[in-house]
Amino acid sequence: LAHDATQHDLTGRAVVVSAGGTREPIDPVRFIGNRSSGRQGAALAEAACARGADVTLVAANVDETVAASARAAGAVVVPVETTAQLRDAVRAAAGQADVVVMAAAVADFRPAEVPGSKIKKVPGEGPAPIALVENPDVLAELARDRLRAGQLVVGFAAETGDARGSVLEHGRSKARRKGADLLAVNAVGSGRGFGAPVNAVTVLDGQGEVVAEASGTKRAVADAIWDVVAKALPSI
Ligand code: CTP
Ligand code: CA
Repeated sequence: LAHDATQHDLTGRAVVVSAGGTREPIDPVRFIGNRSSGRQGAALAEAACARGADVTLVAANVDETVAASARAAGAVVVPVETTAQLRDAVRAAAGQADVVVMAAAVADFRPAEVPGSKIKKVPGEGPAPIALVENPDVLAELARDRLRAGQLVVGFAAETGDARGSVLEHGRSKARRKGADLLAVNAVGSGRGFGAPVNAVTVLDGQGEVVAEASGTKRAVADAIWDVVAKALPSI
């Protein structure tokens, strides 16, 4: 269903969107990261601006052109690098937010210790293993803490099917596990998802039931998600 751009159905709403991919330092020059472009999150921010919302975009390692586009649409862009920085920025803004959308690809693990100087290779010795520790689950924490009363918490899940289940089955169990109100499940792999110009998502509720499906540009997917969110928000 095409969105009516003249309908400012998020006017008076404050929303926080996270975008991009967090990076965890290994040493001062290296990191563990992922290929998230931040475009879906930026499209969510821009769509929310067009629908009248006050938008904060917490942008983890997002290309300046993508961030500038969100800024031009009216979003306040908060650049971050690590998961700890993203968590702090999202939680700071979430205290005043009606909706938080976690579209960022958050690193699941980070190096346990980060030396202050560059790791050197010692000829003949081979690489030293890098011990990792688990990062906090920012989405699950937001869903648990509800930093503002009545706040809607929305997650994203990029899934591939595997021997243990289909994309939708993995999405359903993640929706139930996270405690978020909505989870947008995105099938990735074989040219879809990361970095691709179009996108397809299935929106699940907290019980894992399908509430909407959308495909097309990242902006079209963004508007379909805001359609669901706008309906779910308590009236003002
Ligand atoms: N997420 C988060 N904090 C993390 C990991 C993920 O907030 N440490 C959020 C993502 O921003 C996304 C949702 O959780 O909105 C789902 O992320 P995903 O990586 O698919 O879920 P995981 O629980 O990490 O499961 P897995 O990677 O094992 O599939
Ligand atoms: Ca993960």
